[in-house]
Amino acid sequence: MTLTSAGPPVPVVELRGVAKEYPGGVHALRGVDLTVHPGELLAIVGPSGSGKSTMLNVIGTLDAPSAGTVKVAGYDVGALSDARLSALRARHLGFVFQHFHLAAGRDAVDNVADGLLYAGVPRSRRRERARAALERVRLGHRLGHRPAELSGGEKQRVAIARALVGEPELLLADEPTGALDTASGRVVMELLHELNAAGTTICVITHDQEIADSLPRRVRFRDGAIVSDVRTGEVVPR
Ligand SMILES: Nc1ncnc2c1ncn2[C@@H]1O[C@H](COP(=O)(O)OP(=O)(O)OP(=O)(O)O)[C@@H](O)[C@H]1O
Ligand SMILES: [Mg+2]
Repeated sequence: MTLTSAGPPVPVVELRGVAKEYPGGVHALRGVDLTVHPGELLAIVGPSGSGKSTMLNVIGTLDAPSAGTVKVAGYDVGALSDARLSALRARHLGFVFQHFHLAAGRDAVDNVADGLLYAGVPRSRRRERARAALERVRLGHRLGHRPAELSGGEKQRVAIARALVGEPELLLADEPTGALDTASGRVVMELLHELNAAGTTICVITHDQEIADSLPRRVRFRDGAIVSDVRTGEVVPR
């Protein structure tokens, strides 16, 4: 193997002066700067309405900022066509939401396989990889179950399998434990730690102070701005 002198690794996320104004004059984000390096696991915390989901959606290219630049995996998102954006999402990003967002009529394998729909993987191979991802979240015994036949914690593990099946570089999770009891929430957090240890960069929005405190970096929002950014043992220079 040859080592290249490519310089420091490209940040997974780079936000510069990101603002988001919604119609009606709501300033959801007011000039946010944030850099996330490969391999980080960070908590995003702050009061309701402070802009956390807005920022995650902007990072996830689900929503465009009103001002500022957003780079994901080194790509300037504002400069990409819709087709290139879809490809970026399919190749680099995974999403997990509070309320799972699973397709009701489809079993666990199909729900997870759908995570590969835009990644150019043939159907039979999608289902094979979906089964492997479900094994990874320890749901190998629930492959044929539909969402209504799964517990809340199991549903969230299916959603995590769907997010990880494409081997994303960055996983974005918006309150992934918000609808779960403590025990199921703990399992979900253990899985996120495992994925992070295997190399996935993860941003988690959480209202749970205990969860936030257990993560190595905490970014705190208030009124659309970052008010503190702390790594265990240090303050991240901004
Ligand atoms: N589509 C929208 N149109 C107008 N205003 C919006 C829209 N989405 C969010 N907002 C407003 O933007 C602000 C930030 O919302 P956001 O959803 O980012 O907050 P949050 O920090 O995720 O809150 P929560 O913890 O309750 O989920 C809020 O004041 C909200 O009312
Ligand atoms: Mg939110």
